[in-house]
Amino acid sequence: MQLKQKIIKDKLPKHVALIMDGNGRWAKQRGKERVFGHENGVNAVKQTVEAAGEIGIPYLTFYAFSTENWDRPKEEVDTLMELLVKAIQTETETLNKNGVRLKAIGDLNSLPKKCYEELAEAINITSNNDKITVVIALSYSSRYEIVEAVKNISDLVKSERINTKEIDQKMFSSFLQTNEFPDPDLLIRTSGEQRISNFLLWQLAYSELYFTPVLWPDFNKEHFYEAIIDFQSRERRFGKTE
Ligand code: IPE
Ligand code: IPE
Ligand code: MG
Repeated sequence: MQLKQKIIKDKLPKHVALIMDGNGRWAKQRGKERVFGHENGVNAVKQTVEAAGEIGIPYLTFYAFSTENWDRPKEEVDTLMELLVKAIQTETETLNKNGVRLKAIGDLNSLPKKCYEELAEAINITSNNDKITVVIALSYSSRYEIVEAVKNISDLVKSERINTKEIDQKMFSSFLQTNEFPDPDLLIRTSGEQRISNFLLWQLAYSELYFTPVLWPDFNKEHFYEAIIDFQSRERRFGKTE
């Protein structure tokens, strides 16, 4: 039986978040520069979006670039930004055809102008699609996002537009950039590293975590389905008893 057929249709995660890691190591294994790994990582994103679309998962979030990644060598950062522009330019039409709504979270103002504009255009073009929402985390840091939320709430308290007593978890969530998406049910990280690296700290509170040694450029539909099947075997308790 094919992996895909083992997936239980009414037990699907609504939102899967992915930390796409291992591009550099993948390239190194082949005696190439790190950027070669990034170039080959684009295909894994396509595979994942397609796989999620085929089984009907409505939200995907990809961690593409962290705030900390700006500290990598300039050449690598520049290539990553160029790759992003290229990927958006070549893929937007297909995404649109397949009912994908593109969204982005992160400190988007820190992106190079060209990159920001292409992204904004793709988000705009795909804004009415409703089959699957693909969120890309770019220049993203969860601590940054949380601090921004605190600042925004503080401003409203200071100007007496909200009362401190009104601040609860639901309200706090509404000040995060992810406010229109459900919390991830499942987090997948490739490359064997078992850490969160400043990704969705608040939102992952009760997510199931799945780590695979597969390096991101090798990640394909079958790997994604394996992760979903593993997720379906978990018992989620949310702090309660069985
Ligand atoms: C993930 O791969 C892509 C980004 C962080 C942009 P890496 O570039 O981190 O690859 P490794 O972890 O060094 O192998
Ligand atoms: C996390 O990967 C960020 C992205 C995948 C975009 P990193 O490779 O930057 O994380 P660390 O340094 O291993 O924690
Ligand atoms: Mg890495």
